[in-house]
Amino acid sequence: MSITLSRRRFIAGGTALLGSGISGVAWPMQGSVSLPIPTLVDGTRGEPIDLRIRNGEWSFKPGIKTPTLGINQDYLGPTIRTRQNSQLNLSYQNTLNEQVAIHGHGLHVPGDVDGGPQLAIAPGDRWQPALDIVQPAATCWYHSHTHGSTGHQVYRGLAGMIIIDDEVSDEVPLPRQYGIDDLPVIIQDRTFDSQGRLVYSLQDASEDGWLGETVVINGAISPVARVPAGKVRLRLLNGANARFYIVAFSDNRAFHKIATDGGLLSAPVPLTQMEMSPGERCEIIVDLADGGSAELLTLFEDEIEDAEGIVGSLLDKFSLSKTPQPEPSLTLIVDRTLPAHTAPLPDKLATIVRPEQSEIVGVRDFILDMEDGGSNHTGHGGHALMDMTINGAAMDMNVINERLEIGVWERWRIRSNQGAHPFHVHGCSFLIEQMEGAAAPPDQQGWKDVVVLDDDDWSEIVVRFDHPATDQYPYMYHCHILEHEDRGMMGQFTVN
Ligand code: C2O
Ligand code: CU
Ligand code: CU
Repeated sequence: MSITLSRRRFIAGGTALLGSGISGVAWPMQGSVSLPIPTLVDGTRGEPIDLRIRNGEWSFKPGIKTPTLGINQDYLGPTIRTRQNSQLNLSYQNTLNEQVAIHGHGLHVPGDVDGGPQLAIAPGDRWQPALDIVQPAATCWYHSHTHGSTGHQVYRGLAGMIIIDDEVSDEVPLPRQYGIDDLPVIIQDRTFDSQGRLVYSLQDASEDGWLGETVVINGAISPVARVPAGKVRLRLLNGANARFYIVAFSDNRAFHKIATDGGLLSAPVPLTQMEMSPGERCEIIVDLADGGSAELLTLFEDEIEDAEGIVGSLLDKFSLSKTPQPEPSLTLIVDRTLPAHTAPLPDKLATIVRPEQSEIVGVRDFILDMEDGGSNHTGHGGHALMDMTINGAAMDMNVINERLEIGVWERWRIRSNQGAHPFHVHGCSFLIEQMEGAAAPPDQQGWKDVVVLDDDDWSEIVVRFDHPATDQYPYMYHCHILEHEDRGMMGQFTVN
């Protein structure tokens, strides 16, 4: 089971690798790597899946070995595929000499198997959660959620993808050949020192969190994926610690967003660019039936804002007139020998039933804030650390911040007093009613578990919990900028 990611390299002149049917496509950048595709593990067989949390050594850059963490592999973990109405049995083994909690992000499971910080696995120990999968098809993920070291452990590699299928996803005509026309795309950014080691410091993170300099996709820098000459589904996961990306293609081509965090949208939404905040997933379809190639860009939203003032319509400027063009984060190149999905996109995907206003019983307010922590917490870089709070309190493992009732719809009004924050809630998918002070756009009207609030701004969600979470094993809500989370922008709640 300890198969490592495939990292076959394109070798100059090795055209056989690309097949013979390729035409009119420039040879990919010499020395570029193939997109690593994490091993797919079948999670429907019932028996526990062994997941070894271990140290690794991974080449982000050719010829340089970087100390990392991984799950069954050197960096990141396998993709676990499961189904609605089946039981997913996991068996984590912590072989590190630090404690690790691993959370199933996006899973609708009870608090005692959710993998929050209360469920940390001691060095040498095992944790075997049995997860009853009841929710619809979705792209979820699992990642470290260790108290105070989530950011550092995710940064070193403790994350992987979970794919849930159901009858709807079986039937809608969408690409679904894993690794061929249905690709996991885990977007992260990393900073390396002169010896290729990962650089990370919670203490020295800016108020925006730890922003890496180099984008890595499934652990590779600017990789290339060979894809069929048809529709290709990308399961995009913003697995970065803190970075907000603007995702687009270098030729500004249209693509269709088909799924949000918690599952398929009711219909595909055509877009040319979209924002992805930390923790979010977006499934998109890009059509390569024309046989060319497509370059996926993951632009740093913070830098775009600095350069242009507004995020707005910058992509038109980028694709049409920017020189030099930004480096593609992932290049898709058509290989006509691969079986292509050419069926038209369906007009209808999933049925999303929103609650009636009269069904929404409770209202809760959450205010996210960051304040200067004063001179006693001065980081190595010399800047004062911020105090990160929700409703005036920093995360305390001994405090339950909210108590909820099972099966009841509530409206949560979430506000940022300072800074942009992706707010995430465990144990559920929710629907966005208002986002950044306006009605949710069509591509945000699906099931979500992350909602963005901009600086001095608010969003509103409706949410219901169908599983219990006890005082001993509560659920969490928090900012998904992992340095904000680790510094306290998180709370605990029970569902009874
Ligand atoms: Cu993905 Cu509590 O987080
Ligand atoms: Cu989560
Ligand atoms: Cu935040």
